[in-house]
Amino acid sequence: MSNKTTISLIKCDVGSLAGHHIVPKILLEIAERNLKKARENGSLNSFYVFNVGDDLQLLMTHEKGESNPEIHKLAWETLQEAANKALKMKLYGAGQDLLKTAFSGNVRGMGPGVAEMEIEERGSDPIVVFAADKTSAGAFNYPLFRIFADPMNTAGLVIDPNMAGGFKFEVIDTIENKKVVLKCPEETYELIALIGTVQRYMISRVWRARDDLICATGSVTRLSQIAGKYVGKDDPVVIIRAQHGLPAVGEILAPFLHCYLVEGWMRGSHWGPIMPVGLKDAKCTLFDGPPRMVALGIQVANGEIAADDDGKPMVADLFDDPAFDLARREALEQASTLRRMGEFEPARLGPEEMEYTTLQQILDKLKERFTSA
Ligand code: F6R
Ligand code: MG
Ligand code: MG
Repeated sequence: MSNKTTISLIKCDVGSLAGHHIVPKILLEIAERNLKKARENGSLNSFYVFNVGDDLQLLMTHEKGESNPEIHKLAWETLQEAANKALKMKLYGAGQDLLKTAFSGNVRGMGPGVAEMEIEERGSDPIVVFAADKTSAGAFNYPLFRIFADPMNTAGLVIDPNMAGGFKFEVIDTIENKKVVLKCPEETYELIALIGTVQRYMISRVWRARDDLICATGSVTRLSQIAGKYVGKDDPVVIIRAQHGLPAVGEILAPFLHCYLVEGWMRGSHWGPIMPVGLKDAKCTLFDGPPRMVALGIQVANGEIAADDDGKPMVADLFDDPAFDLARREALEQASTLRRMGEFEPARLGPEEMEYTTLQQILDKLKERFTSA
């Protein structure tokens, strides 16, 4: 036990209602029940259960540090129980992300997505939690760059002396399984060169350069590499600390004034516009999308998500706001442009990134009929 607070966000597609649309209430309630019990017996300090599309999200705070076996076991058993219920009800894709069956102390690498951050609480610690459905962790490269490295987005990089030293980014090469730390502004071009390749390089952590204060951490996994085959997109989550020498909540949200394109969407095989939405609209419909993202604002105080008098965690649904109507409209316009192209690139991902493909079968079938051109 330390006097530090850990924020753990562990998420998983345990099965959903009507295809890959939403986590039904009955599964959210299983998670609520389990985490409430864990809170009562002292394993957890606080929690908030929600869903983004077909992903069940367990946001938890405790004092046990990152990768703690007790916390991971709690999450694993909760996700398992929800998946078992989904299986019984024949909900769709039940347990699709629970790739390994024997728990060995850490859910990382077993299917669920994990973002964890151990912090020494400041006087006040505002946190923004982002969660997305129908896309991969590379979807956060662009906004994380804008937030922590782009002075045209984050005024504080220019006018707050506490941020003037810049930020350090840990980038994972998900193919080679290697990582590198790059410091901005000095290595901005190198950073962009890597993270512009969103399918391979993904930002996993960000620190303030002058004192190595942890500022952001994301779930970087490639389910397909764990399973060795298509198993859905990773539907990533990111935790970001805000204010007082870090980007303000408004600077963290500023990149979402406009929509941008991410990989994922239908069958994990298309480029699609990311749509910032409130929790009530965090459900994928059109062409299994468009990919959606929520942003939840919390205050972490004395090891807990700050709660109201009834003990209910206070959560600000930040994208549930007309300020993001423009991005939502752009998302539909871009969706319309892309869908008009059907299965022609660049609407469809390149063959090496497609999660479903019949290309090999088609080539095999036509093998005899190909002649020299
Ligand atoms: C994307 C996703 C969905 C499915 C699609 C087909 O991550 O999960 O778009 O790929 O609905 O699903 P199946 O093959 O299960 O019918
Ligand atoms: Mg699913
Ligand atoms: Mg999903």
